[in-house]
Amino acid sequence: MTMTTHIGPTAQLEAKGISVKLGRSQVLHAVDFTATSGKVTAIVGPNGSGKTTLLRAMTGEVPHGGQVRLNGVDVANLKPWELAAIRAVQPQNSSIAFPFTVLEIVRLGLSAGLSAADSSVPLQALGTVGLSGFAGRMYQDLSGGEQQRVQLARVITQVWEPVVDGAPRWLILDEPVASLDIGHQFTVMDLARSYAARGGGVVAVMHDLNLTAMFADHMVLMEAGQVAATGSPAEVLTDATLARTYGCPIPVNTTPPIEIPFLLPQARAALPAQAR
Ligand SMILES: Nc1ncnc2c1ncn2[C@@H]1O[C@H](COP(=O)(O)OP(=O)(O)O)[C@@H](O)[C@H]1O
Ligand SMILES: [Mg+2]
Repeated sequence: MTMTTHIGPTAQLEAKGISVKLGRSQVLHAVDFTATSGKVTAIVGPNGSGKTTLLRAMTGEVPHGGQVRLNGVDVANLKPWELAAIRAVQPQNSSIAFPFTVLEIVRLGLSAGLSAADSSVPLQALGTVGLSGFAGRMYQDLSGGEQQRVQLARVITQVWEPVVDGAPRWLILDEPVASLDIGHQFTVMDLARSYAARGGGVVAVMHDLNLTAMFADHMVLMEAGQVAATGSPAEVLTDATLARTYGCPIPVNTTPPIEIPFLLPQARAALPAQAR
């Protein structure tokens, strides 16, 4: 299969005026969104604010108003296999009804992506999510966090090379660290950072604001189906914005006044090399 790409010069995922109505409710109200390749873009916001719906509109899974452009091209003009070669999506929940081995699941990414992809990629991808040795295990026998990492390995397999023919490819992840322990949260976020550092695009729905502050270059804060704030973590994560959006006081960058344990994880990427 030869790839006829319609890729333009703009290495962005851009959504303009995205509106979604589900049942009787207007879930998204003319949302504008831009993510740039080479950066990790995080979508945050309270439960039900429309994060998943925005991702699903941008990946063409729900009918929507407005326009989505990927690498400068209106996605409405791309065929499903062309889209699958450019971007891979990890949904918030993936349930598998049939008995598959871990390797069979990850290999689905290989067939969804470029046919020329190297057949050793699935095993390499399992290694990157800390699941070397799990290839022959039955998927349904794994823990929730292990299953989530298998799904990520499948998605990474699909767009293994972050740049193809000079155009970025995209990882689109809905809560990729939701059921992971802190060590594996770092593994996954390091992977996202590395993918972006190698020129790919990463868009991830996140809940943990500390983790987001550490790993995201750009943030989009959703509230009630609209964009409440956008910018760098320092620009978005302010006391006033968080109090307004989440409806509770969230002091940014202050130590609790009472002596309770307070976890302050440090990103390895942010530490000097000798301290890693
Ligand atoms: N099929 C549906 N019919 C009606 N409302 C829906 C449907 N799916 C989602 N919603 C509503 O849309 C809103 C946004 O949902 P979602 O995008 O999943 O939020 P988030 O991912 O930010 O938690 C929620 O209020 C949810 O209840
Ligand atoms: Mg969601």
